[in-house]
Amino acid sequence: MRGSISSILFDADQIQTRVAELGAEISRDYQGSEVFAVCLLKGSFVFTADLIRHITVPTRVDVMRASSYGSGTVSSGSVKVLYDLDADVADKDVLIVEDIVDTGRTLAKTLHLLRARNPRSLKIVSMLDKPSRREPDINIEIDYTGFQIEDHFVVGYGLDFDEYYRNLPYIGILNPNS
Ligand code: IMP
Repeated sequence: MRGSISSILFDADQIQTRVAELGAEISRDYQGSEVFAVCLLKGSFVFTADLIRHITVPTRVDVMRASSYGSGTVSSGSVKVLYDLDADVADKDVLIVEDIVDTGRTLAKTLHLLRARNPRSLKIVSMLDKPSRREPDINIEIDYTGFQIEDHFVVGYGLDFDEYYRNLPYIGILNPNS
């Protein structure tokens, strides 16, 4: 396994508190309707699992995998759908669950794809947002954000570096060279 954690940005307690707040906010906003959560694999599986347990309205979950990164920390710039949803999202209140929005390319592509399938509504919840990294041509509004962060490469709580570190209960800054 390469790299090491140089510092902890959010510990497990901070994450769990924030996830509970997000769940409560979402539950309020979706009162009287249902949530169709779309977990964007792989990074969002931990966040999705925690978040849905704080949502009190009827909730379904499906998974989808779109990828913009090869191995390591550098974006390849292109996005591919590697695994699509099982369900038809037409007329559903879709909530995309994302781990982190960086350049925004993955999410922009996913939004475009899902919008064409005519959901009743389409919202985004992201655990982390790195606004300083957003590509200038990409204009995405995140409806629910866990934490905004500076331009660090972070791992843990589902986020990986070369597939490692997803199991960490906290979110830490990676030093890829040690
Ligand atoms: P974007 O298309 O550049 O916004 O990249 C989004 C995807 O890249 C995320 O869903 C993550 O899987 C991955 N990613 C972006 N930044 C980080 C990071 O700091 N650590 C780990 N993965 C990241």
